[in-house]
Amino acid sequence: MMNESSLDVLTSLCKRRGFIYHSSEIYGGIPGFWDYGPLGCEMKRNIKEDWWKTTVRNREDVEGLDATIIMHPAVWKASGHLDTFSDPMTMCKSCKKLMRADQIWDIFDENEIGVTLHKLLDQSGGDPSKIVAWCKGKARGQTPNLPAVLNASVLTAAYEQLCNNNLTDMDAHTLYSLFANAGSDITITPCPHCGGELTKPRPFNLMFKTVVGPVDDEKNTAYLRPETAQAIFVQFQNVLATSRQRVPFGIAQIGKSFRNEVTPRNYTFRSREFEQMELEYFIRPDEAVEIICGKVTKLTDNPDISAPNESWGWEVWHKYWVEQRKQWVAQCGLPTESFVESVHADEELAHYARACVDLEYRFPFGLQELEGIAARSDFDLSQHQKHSGKTMEVFDETLKLAARKMDDKSRADFADKVAEKWRTLGKEDSQARDFVARLFEGRYVPHVIEPSAGVDRMMLALLCNAYEEQKLVDEKGKEDSRVVLHLEPRIAPVKVAVFPLVKNKPELYGKAREIFEHLRRRYASFWDHSGAIGRRYRRQDEIGTPWCVTIDFQTLNDGTMTVRNRDSMEQLRMTLSELKIMMDKALLV
Ligand code: GLY
Repeated sequence: MMNESSLDVLTSLCKRRGFIYHSSEIYGGIPGFWDYGPLGCEMKRNIKEDWWKTTVRNREDVEGLDATIIMHPAVWKASGHLDTFSDPMTMCKSCKKLMRADQIWDIFDENEIGVTLHKLLDQSGGDPSKIVAWCKGKARGQTPNLPAVLNASVLTAAYEQLCNNNLTDMDAHTLYSLFANAGSDITITPCPHCGGELTKPRPFNLMFKTVVGPVDDEKNTAYLRPETAQAIFVQFQNVLATSRQRVPFGIAQIGKSFRNEVTPRNYTFRSREFEQMELEYFIRPDEAVEIICGKVTKLTDNPDISAPNESWGWEVWHKYWVEQRKQWVAQCGLPTESFVESVHADEELAHYARACVDLEYRFPFGLQELEGIAARSDFDLSQHQKHSGKTMEVFDETLKLAARKMDDKSRADFADKVAEKWRTLGKEDSQARDFVARLFEGRYVPHVIEPSAGVDRMMLALLCNAYEEQKLVDEKGKEDSRVVLHLEPRIAPVKVAVFPLVKNKPELYGKAREIFEHLRRRYASFWDHSGAIGRRYRRQDEIGTPWCVTIDFQTLNDGTMTVRNRDSMEQLRMTLSELKIMMDKALLV
């Protein structure tokens, strides 16, 4: 398992081998922005390609979209982002640093102060004097505005409290708070950078503003999209009208999104500019399913979720997409045991969501969201219908025919049942009855399940998972080591490296070039003729190239070459056609 220090090693490999650089590095970089170098951009393309093939091309029920980053600002009013897409921000009154109020303890755990206090507690053996000694000494440099550092009476009160408590039960967060609050009636959360007092948190909208056109005024304000999802909702009717789809079906989009994060952190994990792969999968409301099928299949019915079924309610569709997404993550090379499913509690749900499951990966900096699968009900389409005045309803012939078969009594009972249920959700009777009347005509606003993945996060997880420093012993017992990225061949930036055994034999060299030219029209290939073959292998192992091909004198006689496997380091002789068959099999999604 990779730890935080090995993340530093990976970061340096990514820089050295051209995967990831700081944006605008020659000017000192810009926090929260990263550039992908020659290998990084290949790897990123491979992730997106894999997602696109799996989600769009290999399915008959999903269409693609490529919409603009800047959209009409009304989109963000309707979606709720203008009013509610914010993080709680706080500022230290002493050091003036800004930070997310909900990340104070994460920042503390990662910085020198947190590390010191965690260590001090472990090593104190329950003796408070060692901890107090830190407050009188090193803490002056580390956290100069902590009340216990500035004020002897706070320190005395803290010492007394420490003596009265069992120190072995205390955690570093409680200890740090104690140094800020001992002997006082008011409780402050100390700044994780300097120990100073923090301001009351206030919401900070995460959308980047810009101006469209030459006049910089309120009317021309626009926003860089904070998610790709909204364009899908806004173009829903166009896609429906111009494709041959009927609900249930999905629209997928890959593209850049922007969030003005208060504290971008954890390498590329929380960036201000990032790329999303989002699918909005539109389904019938459960009430429509009930009219058509006579029942709604729920999770409690233990349905087989390997293939969609008309009777599924939203809960089952949600579970289906969680499973589909887990399969894709595993298919990209993350072992199933390396990520966990985390179900959002009601109070953690975003403003649009009815339910959400995150797939979380154990990054070196902790368990963090890789992607979220949300059930967004009809929230988004209904909001756009309300704000634009354009209908977002669909006409569902199957529903209309099924409703026609119901007699008056069943219709009246059905309407009563829906009204009763909606009442418990705080909705008006009239709303429920209008909705049911539209259903009987075959019309409704579709609901949606949204699997939303981050390209950059996926790439970071795959790199962390793939990285290994291996100790090797050859047949003669000689020890060696290598760094290897065990990337899935489909994800690896270079698929095959071609080496001529020697470079001073024109015939052999020419044959190797011929094979390389042939391979590179089909696969991302790399040519290397310098250094010993072993060194060339190591260079490719470090960037995750699954196959290295050496052209030698035998190639000139029988057309076979040595193909060396990155992970097993096994070497086999095969012809070019055999190599292509093997590679195609491994690379096919
Ligand atoms: N569309 C969901 C998200 O961006 O998180």
